Amino acid sequence: MQINDTTALPPYVASTDRYDTMKYRRCGKSGILLPMISLGLWHNFGHDDNFTKAREILRTAFDKGITHFDLANNYGPPYGAAEETFGRIFEKDFRPYRDELIISSKAGWDMWPGPYGNLGSRKYLVASLDQSLQRMGIDYVDIFYSHRRDPDTPLEETIGTLHDLVRQGKALYAGISQYSAEDTAKAAEILQDLGTKLFIHQPRYSMFDRWVEDGLLDVLGNKGVGSIAFSPLEQGVLTSKYLKGFPEDSRAVKDARYLTKDQITGDLLDKVRALNNMAENRGQSLAQMAIAWLLKDERITTVLVGVSRVSQLVDNIGSLDNLEFSETELKDIESILNK
Ligand SMILES: NC(=O)c1ccc[n+]([C@@H]2O[C@H](COP(=O)([O-])OP(=O)(O)OC[C@H]3O[C@@H](n4cnc5c(N)ncnc54)[C@H](OP(=O)(O)O)[C@@H]3O)[C@@H](O)[C@H]2O)c1
Repeated sequence: MQINDTTALPPYVASTDRYDTMKYRRCGKSGILLPMISLGLWHNFGHDDNFTKAREILRTAFDKGITHFDLANNYGPPYGAAEETFGRIFEKDFRPYRDELIISSKAGWDMWPGPYGNLGSRKYLVASLDQSLQRMGIDYVDIFYSHRRDPDTPLEETIGTLHDLVRQGKALYAGISQYSAEDTAKAAEILQDLGTKLFIHQPRYSMFDRWVEDGLLDVLGNKGVGSIAFSPLEQGVLTSKYLKGFPEDSRAVKDARYLTKDQITGDLLDKVRALNNMAENRGQSLAQMAIAWLLKDERITTVLVGVSRVSQLVDNIGSLDNLEFSETELKDIESILNK
């Protein structure tokens, strides 16, 4: 395994003012405050990505009060690589700060061959978390997620396994991702009966994907479960980057596994352009406005961004400087999105 590691960085000492400006929200009815911006390692932390750049992104995040890093067993490529990269960086830079970090991982999508390396069985979840801990070189994760609902495994088995992993101390809190409102309510009840609280839900949520507004957010609010919104920028589409073509270094060009050029249609770009004009009038970048728009709902504990460079992270954190929307702005956004 060779990760591009060309530049030697000086030893890391976390910035002493790292908690001065970040804003934090309580995760549901729990004891944990999460930074309103969290960082995900789905892209840009694979074996072919630049290790020094990955390290600089994580250092900058922590220096700016981002205490939460989100991973999954199969982030890479190849599968497992992001956890390995994170483990190397953790060892070099973050071990002294372990108690200041919320590190998450997940299992639920394809990871290894055969019937026990995918979906929601007890067998898969237990083995996968052990592997994740080994790759990252840590004793426990703060949050362990069922990455998706497996319709063929009884919910009691998947959710009961999360409870057991929490009881064993391998995870401190239990989470689920992309579960429907109905299954989320059931999962919360199963956990409650077992004596563990459902801590967090990780749904896809952005201006262009609003399924959570149709019941899920109400369940989360009523049950006191926190939430972390993933792909808030639609993988980069909700920024100004595709307004003048397809930059060579953009995700749609250099890594089209999950975002292809033909998904970024003229109609979509018309909306992006109108939103971009609004953001400019607010004195924000579009990325900042798209993040702030999600955070206007207090049931969104934190927004989970990905970044390919430090400057994007800094831009995204800047969203916290203006989280207010007037009624007119909100109406204008609705009419752009509903065109
Ligand atoms: N639970 C799940 O099933 C699931 C699924 C997907 C993701 N996630 C989690 O959510 C995290 C975030 O997902 P995502 O990477 O799709 O999030 P995203 O924030 O919507 O997209 C990230 C991409 O947008 C671009 N970008 C970010 N900030 C920018 C800025 N200020 N200006 C211009 N471009 C910017 C970059 O793309 P370029 O490469 O083009 O620069 C970056 O890699 C993942 O890392 C993962 O932790 C969870």
